[in-house]
Amino acid sequence: MSSDIVVVGSLNIDMVVKINRKPEWGETILGSDLFMSPGGKGGNQAYAAGKLDASVAMIGRVGNDVFANQLLQNMQKVGVDTSYIGRVENVSTGVAFINISENGDNSIIVAPGANNLVTPEYVREHEHVIAQAKLVMVQLEIPLESVIETAKIAKKYDVPFMLDPAPARVLPDELYEMVHYIVPNEKEISEITNIEVSDIRSARMASVELLRKGVNTVFSKLGGQGVVVTNSNRTFSIDGYDVQVVDTTAAGDAFAGALATALVRGNDTWSATQFANAVGALTVTRSGAQASMPDLIETQQFIKHSTQQ
Ligand code: RIB
Repeated sequence: MSSDIVVVGSLNIDMVVKINRKPEWGETILGSDLFMSPGGKGGNQAYAAGKLDASVAMIGRVGNDVFANQLLQNMQKVGVDTSYIGRVENVSTGVAFINISENGDNSIIVAPGANNLVTPEYVREHEHVIAQAKLVMVQLEIPLESVIETAKIAKKYDVPFMLDPAPARVLPDELYEMVHYIVPNEKEISEITNIEVSDIRSARMASVELLRKGVNTVFSKLGGQGVVVTNSNRTFSIDGYDVQVVDTTAAGDAFAGALATALVRGNDTWSATQFANAVGALTVTRSGAQASMPDLIETQQFIKHSTQQ
């Protein structure tokens, strides 16, 4: 059975702990409120779209351990087709160690485990799944060669390719030329363009640099400052929502999953961005990655009753 959105990416179990400050090398500090929950940038984006009732499949790999069961069951609960997620013996499922500060910011260390085995060959084995999609989403927690392979397959079948350049790294020009939508946050767009982004003006400048490299549309996520969207026809910005921030983990993933959902439903760029902006804002009001994501009804109510900054 084909799915509208296909996510090729990572699945991690997140080990989350609250801290007052980061430890120095050689130092032990005490944290609090430990919890474990399903995450991974790929899994989160697939989950976000599934929770918003999109038709989604995921291509990825997990170990043969209890973490894998938890991840797969969680995605199946929101209707994500997990039949292209392979189990690998003798390798751990991906794990992310996440520290949350008092104001809700996070820092993340990922041990990729089975995510590193999402190889170009593995992607090619699932060419038929990508070929039938309306949109393909990829992040950078799987090998870069596999990201490029996915983009090539998407291009071959004329399927729009959305890249979340996270965690940020230098990317080859051949990849940018195949990217339809890119969804960096301000840190990531600064890193991949070498232009320091801190506001709407600098986000536009950096976006133009990505258009020059061949990207079709850039969605720069500026956290509380909202989103700046730029393509060759127009540029516009959408304000952030005034919400109580509890945990920013996976807000970008929720944005990407919601954006993909709205675009495959035929929404124009402006209304798709409005929708994704609301989903991202709701996600920061709760703890966890997939655990914090809203469904369609909650999102619609939020858009109706909330004010943007
Ligand atoms: O984007 C948030 C995600 O990054 C977390 O769920 C964690 O698993 C890391 O991949």
